[in-house]
Formats: sequence, C-alpha cells, structure tokens
Amino acid sequence: MSLILGIESSCDETAAAVVEDGFTVRSSVIASQIATHAPHGGVVPELAAREHLKALTPVVTAALEQAGTSLKELDAVAVTQGPGLIPALLVGLNFAKGLAAANNLPLIGVNHFMAHICGAFLDGGAEQLRSPETYPLLALVVSGGHTSLVLIRSDGEASQLGCTIDDAAGEALDKGAKLLGLPYPGGPSIQKAAVSGDPEKYDFPRPLTGAAGKALSRENLYNFSFSGIKTALLYHMKGSAGSDDPQFIADTAACYQRAVVDCLVRKTLRAARDTGARTIVVAGGVACNAELRRLMAEKCPRNVALRIAKPVFCTDNAAMVGGIAWHSFRRKEFSPLNADSFARLPRFVRVPFI
Ligand code: KG4
Ligand code: ZN
Repeated sequence: MSLILGIESSCDETAAAVVEDGFTVRSSVIASQIATHAPHGGVVPELAAREHLKALTPVVTAALEQAGTSLKELDAVAVTQGPGLIPALLVGLNFAKGLAAANNLPLIGVNHFMAHICGAFLDGGAEQLRSPETYPLLALVVSGGHTSLVLIRSDGEASQLGCTIDDAAGEALDKGAKLLGLPYPGGPSIQKAAVSGDPEKYDFPRPLTGAAGKALSRENLYNFSFSGIKTALLYHMKGSAGSDDPQFIADTAACYQRAVVDCLVRKTLRAARDTGARTIVVAGGVACNAELRRLMAEKCPRNVALRIAKPVFCTDNAAMVGGIAWHSFRRKEFSPLNADSFARLPRFVRVPFI
C-alpha cells in the first residue's frame, strides 16, 4: 500500500489530500480564497500567493490528521507544477520541495490539466480506467482556465482535438456573472440564478457549432469560442431597461448558461461520434454545473459510457494531484528538487495515468 500527499495551489484554492494507491481518497482538505478575491471580481495572483502561504501548513496538517496518518508514513509528496498562476504555483511547489527534502521523500510534480481528467476516476473508477473497453476515451476538460477536448487511447497516447480560441467556458461564466451583477465566482452564481429562469426566453449564439447554418472550417471542428456569447450578453444587458428585475436576471442567466452548456455538449458529442469514442469524461470546475451534467447525460449515446467527475473532484482539489502522482510513483518517475513551475499547458502526446 502506498500513501501520497497531494498539494495544490495553482489558482485560488489551497488544497492538500492523502490518497491511497492512486484512487482511494483518505482525506481531501480545501481552503478557498473566495472571500479574498471577491471584492476584486476575480483572482489576484499576488494575493493568492500570500493566502497559499498562510493556509498551506494548516491545510496539510488537517489532511494528514483526517487521513489518520503522519509524514513518516507517506511514500511521496506530489504537487501541482502547472499550468496555473506562477506566484501561486511557486508557493505550493516550494512547500512540497521542503517537505520532501526534510522527510526524505520523493517529489512528484503534477500537470494540473491531466490531474483534472484523472480526478474523474477517484473513489471507484480504477477498474474503468484500466479496462481496454474504456478506450478511445474523449475527455472534456472545462474549467476557469481550460476548455479542451482530449482523445486518449488505451496505451496512453493522447492528442488535443481542440480547445477554446478565446475565453474558457468557466471564464465566460465568470465574466457573464459580472455583467449580470452576480457575485464571484460566476459559474455557481449563474447556476443559482438560472434555477428560476426560463432557458428559452432569449436567444444567445452558439459559436462554432454550425447552429447558425454556417459550415465549420476544419480547423475549428473541435474548437470552442465563448467571447461572442459574452458580447451578446453585454448588448442584451445594455438594451434592457429592466436589468434590475430579478426575473429578467434569472431568465438571462438561464439562457446564457444554456448557450455555454449547449456549445460544450454539442461539440463533445460531435467529437465522440467522429472519433468512435467509447467513453466521455467531463472534468474541471465547470463539470460541477448541474445543467451541463444533466444535458450531457441526456444527450450521450447509449453505447458511450459517460463519466463525470464527482462534484468534489471537479473544482480544484489535491486528491486529483495525489491520485495522478501514484501512476508516476509506480514507475519511479520522480521530479528533481530544482523542478520549476510552468504557466501554460505544454504540448503533450501521452497522459501519465495509463
Ligand atoms: O477547475 P477550477 O476550480 O479551476 C481552474 O482550474 O480553472 O474551475 C473553476 C471554474 C470557475 O470559472 C467557476 O466559475 C467554475 O469553474 N464553476 C462552475 C461551477 N462551479 C465552479 N461553473 C458552472 N457551474 C458551477 N456549478
Ligand atoms: Zn483546475
């Protein structure tokens, strides 16, 4: 049995988790910085870094305690290396390096984007991840920083079929919420406001889906675009006298959310059909969204398995970090103590968890 401590600090959550053998989450502790960033309407990297510094020791201590373990019993320390905000990443990375060096433990640097995909298999997904029947697997990674479709084969070979050409879906929801006067973070706020709204009341565009009758260029077949929906929302708000009316806000939120979700679902299903995917995985913060979960389940063809990450493993957490690191641990693939953080997703040809 191996125990890995995962640490995550790529954006605005400070998180630590203890994961047993890659899939069993023994503890997962998350300190959110929402209160710090809310007055600014978005994440301020320097403030995030300072908050991480304050929160790391208590969060790691709580994760070890809740798992009923101690540093001595750990087999490795895993940490998010990137992509993310450099000041925020550096705090977690350096903390993890110190912990690994002081306790003579191997350090495993983790790719946050890949960890989101692997996180969909935590707590009960080991067999599905291992089974050849699962592949080809199409993953939709949809968060505040990413909106990507990744095709993964049974040997771990992977390619990015498409991604957003402007805003990420979560970013579009966050910015949309600002226009609607709803609090940060916008995704959950829009979901909440949309509950009492009519999602068919107003028309918002579905960019790059072919819905407007325009044929899609080959290069954009699996790409996403959300800036046009956001601009449509801006004009919709400007053109409406009753923009303070709660029903107007609810209806607008419902239609805006439906437009974003509809684009995600249509493009994912199109890619699944074209590639013969046998499993669709949906992961990342926006995968929490109830409308996305519902519509994806409703539209997913019967012969395709749908695996949506559990809500607690959708938004940033460290269980996915401890989980994905186990696959490197088994292969004795460790990171050097001078490993650096990285801001952007590097080009990749494989995933490390198969
Ligand atoms: O994965 P995540 O925690 O951080 C990144 O790696 O970006 O994702 C955060 C994003 C934010 O844009 C947030 O608004 C969105 O996920 N989000 C949601 C919901 N919960 C979080 N979007 C829609 N509905 C939700 N329930
Ligand atoms: Zn994330």
